[in-house]
Amino acid sequence: MCGIVGYVGRTMDGTALDVVMEGLRRLEYRGYDSAGVALVTEDGVTTEKRAGKLENLRSTLETHPPAASRTGIGHTRWATHGGPTDGNAHPHRGGDGDRLALIHNGIIENFHSLKKELLADGVEFLSETDTEVAAKLVGREYDRLGDLTEAMRAVVGRLEGAFTLLAVHADSPGVVVGARRNSPLVVGLGDDATYLGSDVAAFIGHTRRALELGQDQIVTITPEGCSVIGFDGTPAEGTAYEVTWDAAAAEKGGWATYMDKEIHEQPHAVADTLLGRTDESGRLVLDEIRTTEERLRQVDRITFVACGTAAYAGMVAKYAIEHWTRIPVEVSLAHEFRYCDPIVDGNTLVVSISQSGETMDTLMAVKHARELGAMTLSICNTHGSTIPRESDAVLYTHAGPEIAVASTKAFLAQITACYVLGLYLAQLRGETYADDAKAVMHELQGIPEKIEELLGRMDRVVEMADFMADSRAVLFLGRNVGYPVALEGALKLKELAYIHAEGFAAGELKHGPIALIEPGQPVFVVVPGPDTPHDLHKKVVSNIQEIRARGARTLVIAHDGDEDVEPFASEVIRIPQCSPMLAPLLAVVPLQVFALHLASAKGLDVDQPRNLAKSVTVE
Ligand code: F6R
Repeated sequence: MCGIVGYVGRTMDGTALDVVMEGLRRLEYRGYDSAGVALVTEDGVTTEKRAGKLENLRSTLETHPPAASRTGIGHTRWATHGGPTDGNAHPHRGGDGDRLALIHNGIIENFHSLKKELLADGVEFLSETDTEVAAKLVGREYDRLGDLTEAMRAVVGRLEGAFTLLAVHADSPGVVVGARRNSPLVVGLGDDATYLGSDVAAFIGHTRRALELGQDQIVTITPEGCSVIGFDGTPAEGTAYEVTWDAAAAEKGGWATYMDKEIHEQPHAVADTLLGRTDESGRLVLDEIRTTEERLRQVDRITFVACGTAAYAGMVAKYAIEHWTRIPVEVSLAHEFRYCDPIVDGNTLVVSISQSGETMDTLMAVKHARELGAMTLSICNTHGSTIPRESDAVLYTHAGPEIAVASTKAFLAQITACYVLGLYLAQLRGETYADDAKAVMHELQGIPEKIEELLGRMDRVVEMADFMADSRAVLFLGRNVGYPVALEGALKLKELAYIHAEGFAAGELKHGPIALIEPGQPVFVVVPGPDTPHDLHKKVVSNIQEIRARGARTLVIAHDGDEDVEPFASEVIRIPQCSPMLAPLLAVVPLQVFALHLASAKGLDVDQPRNLAKSVTVE
C-alpha cells in the first residue's frame, strides 16, 4: 500500500536525501497521494511532507534544501486513516521536542484506544492518522529508555493490526529502526550503507544483496549492516538472498508508461515462468516447489484464493486444471474465503495467487487455510514477500517487477504458472484425462512468440481506443476460459479509464444483461477457437448475432481464419490460432492495449489510476 524507504550511510552529505527520494520514486506505484521524508542532520531531525504526487515534495525540497545527512527515511502514502493532506502525510513526530520521526505502512486497529490514553496524558496530535499514535508512543519510550530499538520493542507489542514502522531519532544519528507485522519490509546490504524498503525496488539501484525479515521482527540498521530481534527481544536472523533483476528492469526503458512496457514484456513473462520447469524429455520438474510429490498426490480438492486480476487467473485455471486432472477446483475471492466457513481438510490444496505477495486479504486467507489444516501453495511474483513465506509450498512466476498499478504481465505469468501446476498434478496422477501434459507444455512454450506477433498487430485496437474515448459504458462477453478474460477486460477499463464496464458469461446474456443492449452499445466478445468442444464457438457466434440484431457495436476477438464471425462483427480483432485452453494468454492482450490507450486518449495517468495502490496491504 504505502512505500517505505530507509537509509544509513557512512558519510554526512546529500546522499541520504538522494537515496531516499530515488527509492520513493521507485516505490511511488505503491501509493501516491502524499509523500514525505525525515533526515537526521546536525541540527536534529528535519521533516518535509506534501500531499499529492512525489513531484510536490521534490519541488519543496528543491526550494528549501535540507542540511547534510547520512540517515533518512521516506514514505509515499495511500491514505487509510485521515485524508490525503500535508498534515496527514508521513513522517509523524513524537517524543520530547519532537526529536523522533516515524513512518508507517498498514493499519493500527487499536489506535483509538491508544490515542485516548495519550490524550489523557496531555499529548497533542496534529493529524488524524493512526501513525501519529505510534510516533508518540515510540517517542515517549525513547525518552524513557534512550535506545531506539528498545523503544520500538516496547511499543510494537501494544499495537494490533498490520504494520511496518520505521523510526529515526535526533539523538541516534546513523541508525534507523524498523519493525514489521503482516506488512512488508526488506533490508538491502551495501558496502558502505544499509537500506530498508517495502520492496527491493527501493534500493535496487544500489545493491542486489537483500535480507528477508520474518514476521514480528525488529531490525536496526547502521552503515555496517543490521541486527534483527523478535518482538520478544530474542536475537533472530533474516534470510539473505540475491535479487535477480536489476535497476533497468524497474525503469521505463523508453516506453511512455510502465504499463505499455509491461504489456510488451509479456512474451518474456510467460517464457521465463516456463523456464527450467521441464527436463530434456519434456516432463515437468518442479524442484523448487518446497513440498513432496507424495504430499501433492494426496490432493483431492483445490481452492484458489486471490483478489482482482489474480482471481481471474484462478478462474481461468479452474477450467484447465479440472479438465486435466479431474480434481475439483473452486475459486474464492480471498476476502470472502476467510469469512465463508470454507470446507477444507488436509487433502485440500489452497493455492493463493498474488503478484505482490503482500495483499492482506490473500495473506489472511492463506493463514486461515493453514489453521484449518489445508496445504497451502503460493503462486507469487515477488521473492521475499510474505505470502510465499507463510505458505507450505511456492511456485514463483517470473514476470519481473510489475510497477504499473494495473496488472498485465503478472496476469499472464499467473495463468502460465497455474497451468504448470495443473499439468504437474496431472503428471503426478499418472495421466492427463484429456490432453497430453508434454504436448500442452510444448504448445505453451510457443505462446510467447504468438504474443509477440499479436503485439505487432495492435494498430487498429489503438485507433479504436482513440475514437471510443468518450464511451460511457462497455460490455465484455466470454465463455469458458474466455469468461474470466471478459471480466479482466472490463476490470482493466474500469480501473484505467474510469468507464463503466461489465464482463458477463456469454450464456448469461439472455438471463438479464441483454436488456442493456441498445443501438451503438460497444460489446467486446471473446470468441472461443472453432475447435472448442461442445460447439461453444457456434454458441458464441449466435450470441454475437443476438446483440448485433439489437444494434450493439460488436468488437470481436477471434482466432486467425475464423470466418464465421465476419458477418456479425463491427470490428474483428485477430489473435493467432492456439488450442482452446491457451487462448486466454492471447485474447486478453488486445483488451489490455485497448484499456491503456483509451485511458491515455482521455489524458489519464495510466500507471497510477486514481484511488488505487499496487499492493493492497490493508484488509
Ligand atoms: C488489477 C490489479 C488488482 C490485483 C489485486 C491483487 O489490475 O492489479 O486487481 O490483481 O489487487 O494483487 P496481488 O496480485 O498483488 O495480490
